[in-house]
Amino acid sequence: MSGRTSEVACPRPPSLATGPVYLDYNATTPVDPRVTEAALPHWTDFFGNPSSEHAYGAEPRRALAAARAQVAGLIGARPEEIVFTASGSEANLLALRGAVLAACTHLVVQATEHPAVLETARALGRLHGTRVTVLPVDHHGLVSLDALEAALRTGADRTVVSVMAANNETGAIQPVAELAALAHSRGALVHCDAAQACGKIPVDVGALGVDLLTVVGHKMYAPRGAAALFVREGVALEPVVYGGGQEGGLRAGTENVALAVALGTAARLAAADLAAGRVAALRDDLHRRLAEVLPGRVRLNGPDAPGQRLPNTLNVSIDGTRGHDVLARAPEIAASTGSACHSGVHAPSPVLTAMGFDAARALAAIRLSLGRWSTPADVDTAVQALEAAVVDC
Ligand SMILES: Cc1ncc(COP(=O)(O)O)c(C=O)c1O
Repeated sequence: MSGRTSEVACPRPPSLATGPVYLDYNATTPVDPRVTEAALPHWTDFFGNPSSEHAYGAEPRRALAAARAQVAGLIGARPEEIVFTASGSEANLLALRGAVLAACTHLVVQATEHPAVLETARALGRLHGTRVTVLPVDHHGLVSLDALEAALRTGADRTVVSVMAANNETGAIQPVAELAALAHSRGALVHCDAAQACGKIPVDVGALGVDLLTVVGHKMYAPRGAAALFVREGVALEPVVYGGGQEGGLRAGTENVALAVALGTAARLAAADLAAGRVAALRDDLHRRLAEVLPGRVRLNGPDAPGQRLPNTLNVSIDGTRGHDVLARAPEIAASTGSACHSGVHAPSPVLTAMGFDAARALAAIRLSLGRWSTPADVDTAVQALEAAVVDC
């Protein structure tokens, strides 16, 4: 574990110092110490309600407004277009349930969306009779314009389309701008779950042309429980929590200022330095070296073309292995498979299955996701650990 601190400029969270090499940044990121430092006074000192007109409300109100502007700044939005939520799942719920209950009778999603989108779609169908169309993806996990075009031709209903910016398992980057332009030309609303993209690649709501966009703090060095939804001015949504009128009336409840400040600070840091080139170089080195030590056995899951995959994500299947066996034999690293384990039985990842891979390929998958504190020494450790684990399997 030595030598893992020198290459990165920002302070390393102490939590990374003693454990295995962390290669699961897509699951969640360590909290950046600068984020903790900014948020802390809002737990310890500034306890006031941001709506209070007396002196105790002033600093929370100022900090909340500043945080909203910082989140807006990361994605090219205006501060009034940001609604803080308690999770990415909740932001997705506000977007999709909100659009359906306000105006839409048809919801179009794609097959590799996060369960927060797919299960919301299912619930809307069950509870509100919403017509749901699930678009297929190709071998790289990408949606085609033709598939969306066909879905938009199937009825006269008002449609909301939800397509993620980048996939959590494979890093596949969807052609959101093109899909959004097509959807808008047919009068549809467009939501984008950018949980995995924000902080890793540039995300601009104007360039993407989306109406609703989900931002998630714990994928970009803020704590879990801090997220936001961008709601373009003029887009009508049904609220997700009813009550006191906070968050533009869309999510009632006294604001969690500390978490908003954490998200705002994380957004400011991300906007200043995406560090995508450094991380991509490490990720590509890891891929190349794994392919060298395990010749002919390493298969990339997800697109290989530049610009089509998140710079930090490497999802590979190693022929003749099962991902969970490999990771169980490699305690030097912390990574994940996309498969779910129920009572000791592993089910292939629905994402890889939707991409057309058979069970053997999907069950062999391991997802290695790098981030702000990944170093060349981490890559050395991972290559050695995975090579040894595969020989052992
Ligand atoms: C693409 C995507 N969307 C949504 C979520 C849900 O975010 P949260 O865990 O904050 O509810 C995640 C988290 O894994 C994600 O990767």
